Amino acid sequence: GEQTVVLGIESSCDETAAALVTGGRRILAQRIASQDADHAPYGGVVPEIAARAHAERLTPLIDAVLDEAGLSLGDCDAIAATAGPGLIGGVMVGLVTAKALAMASDKPLIAVNHLEGHALSPRLADPNLAFPYALLLVSGGHCQILRVDGVGRYRRLATTIDDALGEAFDKTAKILGLGYPGGPAVERLALEGDPKAVPLPRPLVGSAEPHFSFAGLKSAVLRAHESGAYTRADIAASFQQAAIDCIHNRLSRALERMGEVSALVVAGGVAANARVRTALEELATSGGLRFVAPPPALCTDNAAMIAWAGIERLGQGASDPLDIAARPRWPL
Ligand code: KG4
Ligand code: ZN
Repeated sequence: GEQTVVLGIESSCDETAAALVTGGRRILAQRIASQDADHAPYGGVVPEIAARAHAERLTPLIDAVLDEAGLSLGDCDAIAATAGPGLIGGVMVGLVTAKALAMASDKPLIAVNHLEGHALSPRLADPNLAFPYALLLVSGGHCQILRVDGVGRYRRLATTIDDALGEAFDKTAKILGLGYPGGPAVERLALEGDPKAVPLPRPLVGSAEPHFSFAGLKSAVLRAHESGAYTRADIAASFQQAAIDCIHNRLSRALERMGEVSALVVAGGVAANARVRTALEELATSGGLRFVAPPPALCTDNAAMIAWAGIERLGQGASDPLDIAARPRWPL
């Protein structure tokens, strides 16, 4: 019900996060400790550094959100933690912590699939979003089009045959020397560039199956940069436009075979990108669909979406055994 309170824990990549969320969609408190500074010198996430940072930071973050909300563990109805997919060391830190808290407080444990956290996050942001909906899930590790029929009921229509979209943003940022994390840096630089300046490919656009491919686009970005013929801003803007053209075309194709849905929804880190959001909103409107995107802070990794997925699963009567294992791979 509305009064249900779930503690959510996220530690699958490079954000350590804890949050308290109610069944009434109130985020009572949330904290995120970013590890960007720890990984920046290496140009990407280093798993060992990530696991150690999660272990150091998680417990203080949990204490802080409980403090802020004026609650104790005993006031929570369940403990939800990401159990995969992700970097196994970090996932284990979060899951083991959740198990210990669940055991100590005699509350149910909910082992959440991180992708399910992203997939259901739009329902935390929008109380009117009903099943089924069309979902573009675009993050650093995943790039999928799904039909979401209900909690735990996902039909995947498309995936990437090589890189994820967030990965393509990160690699483009690395090529252009923009540092890590790449998505927001590419988006900022693209504002100063001409999206038509650099001829770049749109892999798989027009092909029958709605799948994605971004490896060829990344290689073309590298060639364009090495040619010395273009400014970095023009490359960033042209890359972003090519990526948007790809998702627009692939989503249109997927929608043709999706059946009736209530809305077009985008989630995952890349959904924080303003140009991506605008393009998808136009696609939705032209197809007579409602468009739903969580606020940017709920798109990138956070614990509120994990707590919310916990609430949705608790509502179905679900809970998990305390010996459940962390999973580096776990398709939806
Ligand atoms: O969902 P997320 O925080 O973590 C994963 O589960 O992977 O997604 C992170 C990804 C990174 O690749 C990051 O570069 C990308 O999302 N991203 C963006 C933006 N913000 C984050 N990509 C494009 N534009 C953004 N504003
Ligand atoms: Zn994520």
